[in-house]
Amino acid sequence: MEKAPRDRAVRESPTDPGPALTLPPGLRFLELRGPERDRAIPILKESFTGYYRWHAQRTLREIATVRALEQSEVLVGVTLLARLTPVVGYVYYLFVGEAHRRRGFGARLLDDALAQFAAGGVRVAYAAVEEENLPSLALFQSRGFREVERREKGWAEGGLGAWGLRSQMTIVSGELLYGRRLGGPVVGLESPANHLEERPTIRTPRATPRHGIGD
Ligand SMILES: CC(C)(COP(=O)(O)OP(=O)(O)OC[C@H]1O[C@@H](n2cnc3c(N)ncnc32)[C@H](O)[C@@H]1OP(=O)(O)O)[C@@H](O)C(=O)NCCC(=O)NCCS
Repeated sequence: MEKAPRDRAVRESPTDPGPALTLPPGLRFLELRGPERDRAIPILKESFTGYYRWHAQRTLREIATVRALEQSEVLVGVTLLARLTPVVGYVYYLFVGEAHRRRGFGARLLDDALAQFAAGGVRVAYAAVEEENLPSLALFQSRGFREVERREKGWAEGGLGAWGLRSQMTIVSGELLYGRRLGGPVVGLESPANHLEERPTIRTPRATPRHGIGD
């Protein structure tokens, strides 16, 4: 499937409160507030089933920040973002409508989430990733995330350990905690500053890839 054009760059809407990422014409980020968040439900339902669908819908209503990406005013993907502390960000959910996958939108959404975090002073970002969800693992790895080991030093001591924070993350069986530090450029991997101080662990998922939970 053809990817969205990336060549003719424009700035996102000046009304958007977030930092400006370069975007091709027709694409824009926006924050969904209150009842506007219901716009995300159709693609959320395409992306998750069972417990995850229930939990993602509940999180959609309750979470601090919902960022959405529109292409020609069609909502193509969403991130649900929270701060666990003023300097620790958490990507609760990231999903792209089925018809819009493999066009770079998931990567743009993650870049936007990291830019939002970085602009707000966040130093480290985490996400729980299903160990069998190859698209999700590959996406987070492509943006410099790596698996966080249970025993490693805390992020403030030079590791990525999330001591005292895991209980806020709703990590369930079959999920891995992924993390990365922020502070340098966050868009893509072209800049050496995006490489972590520690090399990311490139993990080969053990099982068949799936797009969503229960697909
Ligand atoms: C995971 C998900 C968000 C990816 O969105 P997407 O828009 O298709 O991702 P992108 O096109 O931006 O791809 C970015 C990178 O992710 C990886 N990736 C995405 N889909 C992939 C797939 N099906 N197989 C392997 N790698 C994949 C690749 O590394 C890709 O980079 P590349 O295109 O340069 O190879 C999407 O598949 C989705 O919504 N899945 C259901 C919900 C979900 O599982 N969310 C994650 C956990 S909350």
